[in-house]
Amino acid sequence: MTATSRAVASPRVVNIDDLRDLARRRVPRVVFDYIDGGADGEITMRENRLAFDVVTFRPRQAIAVANCNLRTRVLGFDLSMPVLLAPVGYLRVMHPDGEVGAARAAGDAGTACILSTVSGYRLEDVKAASRGPVWYQLYLTGGRGAAEDALHRAQVAGYTVLVITIDSTVIGLREREVHDGMEQLLRGSLWSKIPLTPQIFACPRWLVRFLLDGGLPDMPNIVSHERGVLKVRDAHSAIKRAAFSWDDMSWIRALWKGPIVIKGVLTGDDARKALEHGAAAVVVSNHGGRQLDGTPATLRALPEVVAAVKDRAEVLLDSGIRRGSDVIKAICMGARAVLCGRAYAYGLAAAGEAGVTRALEILHADVERTLKLLGCPSIDALDRSYVDAGGHC
Ligand code: FNR
Repeated sequence: MTATSRAVASPRVVNIDDLRDLARRRVPRVVFDYIDGGADGEITMRENRLAFDVVTFRPRQAIAVANCNLRTRVLGFDLSMPVLLAPVGYLRVMHPDGEVGAARAAGDAGTACILSTVSGYRLEDVKAASRGPVWYQLYLTGGRGAAEDALHRAQVAGYTVLVITIDSTVIGLREREVHDGMEQLLRGSLWSKIPLTPQIFACPRWLVRFLLDGGLPDMPNIVSHERGVLKVRDAHSAIKRAAFSWDDMSWIRALWKGPIVIKGVLTGDDARKALEHGAAAVVVSNHGGRQLDGTPATLRALPEVVAAVKDRAEVLLDSGIRRGSDVIKAICMGARAVLCGRAYAYGLAAAGEAGVTRALEILHADVERTLKLLGCPSIDALDRSYVDAGGHC
C-alpha cells in the first residue's frame, strides 16, 4: 500500500469532506477548483447542499434492523447500493488512474459507473477494467460523425446504457477556473503556463505522476473524421459547435439499441419531453451547479419531475450528494437512485483508485447506518413518510 492510499484508508477519513481536504492538498489549485467549483456566483451549487439540510427525518424508533438490504435495481441492473458514479470529465488529469481506476472501483463495490465522453482513456479499456456495469455518457463534441463512431464502439465494447446530457449547450462560466488559469493549463503555450508554476510545484508528487503519464491526455473517444483524435485544447470549442437538441434523438435512437437516460432534467415539461423521445430514465441534475447558475436545487425539482413521469420511467438524481443521509432523502422524495460526481472525484484526486473505493465505502456505510437509525429494513421500503420536507420541496 502506498503512502497516499494509506492516508485515505485512515480511520480519521470519516466523510467526503475529509477526502476533499486531502484532494485540496494533493493536486494543484487549478485542478482542485476544476473539481470543486461551480458556475458564476455558485448559488445553485450551494442551494444543492442546503436543500438536503432542510429536509429532516421522521424515524421509527425502537425497531432493531439487524441486516438492512441496500440492493437496488436500476434499469434492470442489480446494484449493491443506490449510488452510481456520475460522468466526470478529465479524471486522468486528477490522477493517472483516471476513468479506468474509477470504473474498477465502482465494479468492485458492486455498482455502476458512467463514462464521460471527455475521457482520457479509451472507452474499451474502461469497460474492460470494471466487473460491473459501465454506461456511456454522450456529448456531441466532435460532431455527429464522431458521436456515431463512439456509439458504435461503445456497443461493441459492451456498454448497455446511453446517458445523454442535455444541460450543456455551452459550457458554464466557472469563475474559479478562469482565475486559476485552467485555460492556460489546457490550451495555452508553454510560455503562458509559467504563471501556473508555483501551484504546480507545490504538488510535486502530482507533477511527477502527471509527467510519467504523458502529460495532458488526448480524448481517444472523440475521433473526428477530418481531424482524428481530439486534443484536449480543442474540446471546449468543439462542444460549443455541437450541442445536443431534441431533434438528435431520432438518429441516436436508431443507432443505440439499449436504454437511453436523459441527464439534466429540472422540470416536469422536460421530463415529459424526454419520455416522448423514448427515454427509459431521467436524471434530475443541474450538473452540480456547474452550468446555469440560478436553477433550483435538484432535491426541490425532484417532486415535479416524479409527478410528471408517473412510474413510466425511472427517476435518478444528482448534484450535492455528500452523505448517505442525502442518498436516503433523495430516495424518500421519489428518486430510485443517485449519482455522485465530486464525492468520488475528490477521492480520485486524493489517492487514485483507492480514493474512489474509500468514497464508495463511506457512502455505503452511511446509507446502511441511516437506514438502521430510521428503523427501515431496506431501500425498497423507503417512502415520503420517513422525511419532513417542511414545505421546502
Ligand atoms: C461533471 N459533470 C459532468 N457531466 C456530464 O454529463 N459529463 C461530463 O463530462 C461532466 N464532467 C464533470 C466534471 C466535473 C469536475 C464535475 C464536478 C462534474 C457533472 C456530473 O455528471 C454530475 O452531474 C455532478 O457532478 C453532480 O454533482 P456533485 O455530485 O458533483 O455535487
